[in-house]
Amino acid sequence: MIFYFSGTGNSEYAAKQISEVLGEPAVNLNDTIKEKEGTAVKPEERLVFVVPTYAWRIPRLVEAWIQKVRFEGTHKVYFVMTCGGGIGNAEKYLQKLCEQKHFTYMGCAEIVMPENYIAMYPAPEEMEAKMIVTKAVPEIRKTAEYIRDGRKLPEIKITLQDKIKSGIINDIYYPVCVHADKFYAKDNCIGCGKCEKACPLNNVKLQDNRPVWGTRCTHCMACICGCPVEAIEYGKKSVGQPRYQCPV
Ligand SMILES: Cc1cc2nc3c(=O)[nH]c(=O)nc-3n(C[C@H](O)[C@H](O)[C@H](O)COP(=O)(O)O)c2cc1C
Ligand code: SF4
Ligand code: SF4
Repeated sequence: MIFYFSGTGNSEYAAKQISEVLGEPAVNLNDTIKEKEGTAVKPEERLVFVVPTYAWRIPRLVEAWIQKVRFEGTHKVYFVMTCGGGIGNAEKYLQKLCEQKHFTYMGCAEIVMPENYIAMYPAPEEMEAKMIVTKAVPEIRKTAEYIRDGRKLPEIKITLQDKIKSGIINDIYYPVCVHADKFYAKDNCIGCGKCEKACPLNNVKLQDNRPVWGTRCTHCMACICGCPVEAIEYGKKSVGQPRYQCPV
């Protein structure tokens, strides 16, 4: 079974490529998490999680979901992490998670895709983004072939810096940086409700046809990048920056 979580479409695109090679459907975790659903997973089934990288690890909301769901029997588990630059030492934490869940860890692939974190960095314009995605396709397909053939994914070499990023920086990053209080909607908001629908944590609610953000945000960028009229800003950081959606 292939599961994917995606704020702006990169991981969804990678999951669909993998789904083509494996000949099995990819299940959207955004909706599952939003609806607070569990899911039925058959014993012995191979699991593939395709997710973005948040602070050099998998998103905490996905990790929490995996922790919570009861997976019957044993499973061979693969991770595919899309990222803007690198996944650091994410593998260490994935291996731990697999031990806790009695999964057999089969490895993690690092797939460089366009940067989407417009609350922090500029995202590429569409042409450049298309080139980055095109470049990523052979790596995604190669990863899918490893998975199809039941092989372990090649180990990723890590540095001391990677250990620091995925360790202490990840720990600090969530409480210090991940808040929704800088989001606001401008007057060109048309009250379409897309932002409310897009939020996997139900953190956006429409009041008098304008979005209001709560405190449960994971900075997935789905609301700000999915607004059809670019009415959402994140403080000053996003002003004048291109919104990002996977361009293919
Ligand atoms: C909150 C947040 C944190 C991120 N942290 C990293 C990171 O540590 N390393 C990295 O290379 N990219 C990082 N990125 C970039 C995304 O992982 C990357 O663009 C990913 O492909 C987005 O996938 P999606 O379109 O499926 O949401 C981050 C993006 C966000 C929104
Ligand atoms: S998606 Fe944009 S236009 Fe639609 S309600 Fe949200 S802020 Fe307003
Ligand atoms: S509020 Fe926006 S950025 Fe935060 S989790 Fe919801 S959709 Fe993602």
